[in-house]
Amino acid sequence: MKSFIFILLLKLSLGEITPRASPGYDCEYCQPEQIHISFGSKSNDIVVTWTTFNNTHESRVQYGEGTMDMEAVGTRTLFTDGGKQRRKMWIHRTLLPDLKYDTRYVYHAGSVFGWSEQFSFKTVPAGEDWVVRAAIYGDMGNKNAHSLSYLQDEAQRGHFDMILHVGDFAYDMDTDDALVGDEFMRQIQPLAAILPYMTCPGNHEAKYNFSNYRNRFSMPGPYESMFYSFDVGPIHFISISTEFYYFLEFGFKMVANQFQWLQEDLMEATKPENRARRPWIVLFGHRPMYCSNSDDIDCSVEYTRKGLPFLGLYGVEPLLRRFGVDAALWAHEHSYERSWPLYDLRVYNGSLREPYRDPRAPVHVVTGSAGCQEDTDTFTSPPPAWSAFRCSDYGYTRLHAHNRTHLHFEQVDVDLKGQVIDSFWIVKDHHRPYDLS
Ligand SMILES: *[C@@H]1O[C@H](CO)[C@@H](O)[C@H](O)[C@H]1NC(C)=O
Ligand SMILES: *[C@@H]1O[C@H](CO)[C@@H](O)[C@H](O)[C@H]1NC(C)=O
Ligand SMILES: *[C@@H]1O[C@H](CO)[C@@H](O)[C@H](O)[C@H]1NC(C)=O
Ligand SMILES: *[C@@H]1O[C@H](CO)[C@@H](O)[C@H](O)[C@H]1NC(C)=O
Ligand SMILES: [Fe+2]
Repeated sequence: MKSFIFILLLKLSLGEITPRASPGYDCEYCQPEQIHISFGSKSNDIVVTWTTFNNTHESRVQYGEGTMDMEAVGTRTLFTDGGKQRRKMWIHRTLLPDLKYDTRYVYHAGSVFGWSEQFSFKTVPAGEDWVVRAAIYGDMGNKNAHSLSYLQDEAQRGHFDMILHVGDFAYDMDTDDALVGDEFMRQIQPLAAILPYMTCPGNHEAKYNFSNYRNRFSMPGPYESMFYSFDVGPIHFISISTEFYYFLEFGFKMVANQFQWLQEDLMEATKPENRARRPWIVLFGHRPMYCSNSDDIDCSVEYTRKGLPFLGLYGVEPLLRRFGVDAALWAHEHSYERSWPLYDLRVYNGSLREPYRDPRAPVHVVTGSAGCQEDTDTFTSPPPAWSAFRCSDYGYTRLHAHNRTHLHFEQVDVDLKGQVIDSFWIVKDHHRPYDLS
């Protein structure tokens, strides 16, 4: 799963039928399932990931515009779950490289032993000048996934270019010897097979050193989906693991490695020529830097924001200021909450009338109410001064990046049958480090 070393592209003649494998080898559980896609190292590279329970000895995707006249060959890895039964499955990954921009492709994935149903996706437009549309949420489980049907429906109606699932999947992917993970991946297939499904790890993924998460997803970069960045239109997205700060038993060095990488990534993204082309920097991770929920101690433990306990090392909030990160998206609390422009607990309104016009600090959004068996979370009263809007209904967030100056957020309330209960613009003529003097 480290990299896609072996890429083979074939041109099939129109209407060609895939030959059956040589006789003698019997493959019993070789029907592909849990098909999902993600961006590769650039927005016109798509990686297809799927599962079979026996080894098919090949990982093929046949695809094309209208007809499936091309084929890409990928690799597979054997994933052994950490549970008692040590269940095994093969995870297949195939890169579809250098696709045409703004083009609809059809594909199926599999091998001579079985092909998936046919899916289609549309690649994003080239360049920066188009409206990026994303659905964003965290904390969605197999049970009680109130937002799932809305997301499946909106995805199939072509409302989004991508999904960001901000940690906490399935509840949990490793439960029942990872059968819960299998079922979750099947439940998201109606959206994840047709839209890049971009992720970050949450606390519910921690079991066996995040092995279900690392094995089942295929995010760009060399860090096994734990942290990475990618560019889409006018946005540079950064995904981090807040969980490294809380599960130090899996290695303190992970915190240090990620922090080092994050600094370098932000330096690269904020080089004048890069920021001019792609001015928005949106960071997402599972546990929020700010929340005002009442149910537990989550909102007072601030390792990601202020650094590791006692040592105070590797706090991420100073990087948000230093590199002028525009928005930070979180989940973990099963609710929705938006902040005023905020740094180190202080509110820095852009102006009193239009607080998000050239705001003087980053804006934080917590969106962890997609729906899971742990129900929703309540809030402390009264709200803190930094909290601009909050709601405990089930739902998810829509992001529309209109252009280099205008970003729009909406909160969809599925308890209210899809009504938008909060929306706001971030308008910025200048993207630069925040001057808090
Ligand atoms: C094929 O998959 C089944 C179901 O997971 C498993 O019990 C069996 O051991 C596998 N066979 C081989 C040869 O891997
Ligand atoms: C956990 O996995 C990481 C790779 O993501 C590895 O570097 C680390 O050593 C592992 N930790 C343990 C305790 O196995
Ligand atoms: C920020 O601006 C909003 C909108 O004008 C206002 O309601 C809020 O009180 C302001 N907050 C602070 C701390 O100035
Ligand atoms: C950016 O998008 C906003 C909202 O759609 C629009 O009002 C504004 O004119 C656009 N700016 C440019 C330069 O296109
Ligand atoms: Fe969580």
